Amino acid sequence: MTLPPSADVVTRELHGKVLLVTIDHAPVNALSADVRRGLLAAIDAAEAEPAVEAVLIVGAGRNFIAGADIREFGKPPVPPSLPDVYNRIEACAKPVIAALHGAALGGGLEVALAAHYRIAVDGAKLGLPEVQLGLLPGAGGTQRTPRLIGAPAALDLILSGRHASAKEALGFGLIDRRGASGDIFAEGLAYVHELLAAQAPVRRTRDATALSERAASLAAVAKAREETARKARGLFSPLKVVDAVEAAIEQPFDEGLKLERKLFLQCLDSPQRAGLIHAFFAEREVLKAPETREAKPRALDALGVVGGGTMGAGIAVAVLDAGLPVTMIERDEASLARGRAHIEKVYDGLIAKGRLTAEKKAALMARWSGSTSYDALAQADLVIEAVFEDLDVKKAVFAELDRVCKPGAVLATNTSYLDIDAIAASISRPADVIGLHFFSPANIMKLLEVVVPKQVSADVVATAFELAKKLRKTPVRAGVCDGFIGNRLLAVYRAAADALMEDGASPYQIDAAVRAFGFPMGPFQVVDLAGGDIGWAARKRRAAKRDPNARYVQIADRLCERGWFGQKTGRGFYLYPEGSRGGLPDPEVEAIIDAERERAGITPRSFSDEEIMRRYMAAMINEGANVVHEGIALRPLDVDVTLLYGYGFPRYRGGPMKYADGVGLATILADIREFAKEDPLFWRPSPLLIELVERGADFASLNTTA
Ligand code: 3HC
Ligand code: NAI
Repeated sequence: MTLPPSADVVTRELHGKVLLVTIDHAPVNALSADVRRGLLAAIDAAEAEPAVEAVLIVGAGRNFIAGADIREFGKPPVPPSLPDVYNRIEACAKPVIAALHGAALGGGLEVALAAHYRIAVDGAKLGLPEVQLGLLPGAGGTQRTPRLIGAPAALDLILSGRHASAKEALGFGLIDRRGASGDIFAEGLAYVHELLAAQAPVRRTRDATALSERAASLAAVAKAREETARKARGLFSPLKVVDAVEAAIEQPFDEGLKLERKLFLQCLDSPQRAGLIHAFFAEREVLKAPETREAKPRALDALGVVGGGTMGAGIAVAVLDAGLPVTMIERDEASLARGRAHIEKVYDGLIAKGRLTAEKKAALMARWSGSTSYDALAQADLVIEAVFEDLDVKKAVFAELDRVCKPGAVLATNTSYLDIDAIAASISRPADVIGLHFFSPANIMKLLEVVVPKQVSADVVATAFELAKKLRKTPVRAGVCDGFIGNRLLAVYRAAADALMEDGASPYQIDAAVRAFGFPMGPFQVVDLAGGDIGWAARKRRAAKRDPNARYVQIADRLCERGWFGQKTGRGFYLYPEGSRGGLPDPEVEAIIDAERERAGITPRSFSDEEIMRRYMAAMINEGANVVHEGIALRPLDVDVTLLYGYGFPRYRGGPMKYADGVGLATILADIREFAKEDPLFWRPSPLLIELVERGADFASLNTTA
């Protein structure tokens, strides 16, 4: 084969008898076409050059290799393919050694598996995370890994997609040596010299024998197949992984590789792969809000929280877990004690599950302090207000913060719906005020809407993004409006569900259809979990402002009037006998719904699950288009990340806007126009949706870097 000269993303350097091959392709040494060509050329050169006795492959920078170049997926393939490159590495007549540091993931680990010997230093992350992208290891990983470490360990690694440390990898035989220092180059060279001195032979993973216990290996496959079918609900690639590993047991290596390739290409073509990779890039894009480029974050050494209720306590736990100190302010000593108790309850729960020790809890709680006096916040760098959802109460809190906080302190509100511009305008330092909208439970949920009011300064926004990083949250930049991004969409798709219910679908059918789509819960289960009283209070508050011509479904109000607030009261849309969490359908609720239909003069009709989802998704997508159109969300991908991280949208579908592109925006618009014949006020097509359809464009075309 004639090859172009080695591209400079793969360099070759002779160190005595060792050809040092360095992959230098920032940011993460992904295996783009140039890297693949460079690797092939390096092996050819090593074989051709008599002075070379062994090859050492290392990665430049912080990682060995993060895997195949994800940006190439979905584009026409460019030769040479990864399997061809790896077969060439494995076939090399001179020993090839891979020295791993940082990420050695996916195709990166597969390079190492094709090499003849492997060393990794501490801090290395070894894994085959393809399944998280809707794929399976497609360059020999499903064939070489089980041959090297056995079927059970291989299945665990590939199906979980988790990262193993160097220590663990050595334990199950994935590597041969664990380097003592962090110097990958020195460690690698020393190891190669040792192997050469011992005249270590070429040793190919394809010939490794960890699958020799055939019956036990097949039993592991059967167990994994059963568990995967049960757990990986709706996911395509995990079962293909099991098929590929089975082939590693049942078939010769080359046949197994062929099957792996076939299954890999099936996964590559699947919409799930497209959805999961969209999610991968989107969750990185949201970090790049314009203000994070314009300004540096302020200090974040001491934090304050006002309010120790559900959210205040959850936020305090998130802050403590990040290793930062937090001061909690409450109205009185009793409320403060309750706030502290909420925090302790979280940690005691972890202790009970064996996930935290009493000593660690004590160390965490030592960073907590509480007070009923705002003066305790004088030194705080950032304060998050989480008191009752009432504008006047919040303004009073901000007046106190304005009085006591040091100049430059960031003043944040966790409000769900209120006008943050109005809160900011009510104090003397509006440029320091921002929204930090956490989700419940705040110590667990990953989403953080960073709500950017008109007058805020860029470094305050940058500080909010920095805080998200420290708290390991996924921040999404949102503008001020009623409900920001997430709750604004929620209100609309909830209304669509209510209308479906009043028109004839039962809440149980709607929930089941939404679950079958991939959400963990349906909308009525969510109401029962959160507490029906919360939404009821909001509806009453907004009643005066509601358009009298807008459809208003009263079913939920009828339940609340009876005190049926959901799980906490033992019944809501569902019955929860004896504190059970999985609810049972309630015939009395169905009777109430019937009565409401009659009152509203509606003759119930039946809906297929597909019709339910068309309406549910059309409502969500249309409002998503509105928030992008109004600049509340920077791009469609910000809507996607919000729904993925805060509202249980199935990740493999990429988010509502990605899903819409898959269905086709013209189809969504046609649906909305059809539904509008019944209720034109609710089903008003978003101007952005109309514009995109007219231009023949999709939401993805708007996902440029912010
Ligand atoms: N291909 C292309 N770009 C990649 C990439 C990849 N495999 N992995 C990361 N990147 C990009 C990111 O998009 C990001 O780009 P940006 O700066 O423009 O936003 C940049 O590299 C840095 O990534 P992170 O911000 O994630 O950096 P971290 O240091 O936090 O994490 C990492 C590094 C652990 C390597 C993480 O990026 C990661 O998990 N990457 C994906 C690993 C993976 O899934 N590999 C399997 C790929 S599929 C495969 O190999 C198929 C094969 O079997 C045939
Ligand atoms: P909560 O009722 O559980 O807690 C509010 C706490 O604030 C109470 O402990 C109360 O004693 C305290 N408080 C009231 N006035 C105070 C004052 N002037 N000074 C000090 N403390 C005061 O309410 P929850 O659910 O924690 O909500 C708080 C805020 O978070 C609200 O704005 C809400 O909209 C928002 N939010 C709530 C979410 C949820 O799921 N509960 C999700 C996201 C945001």
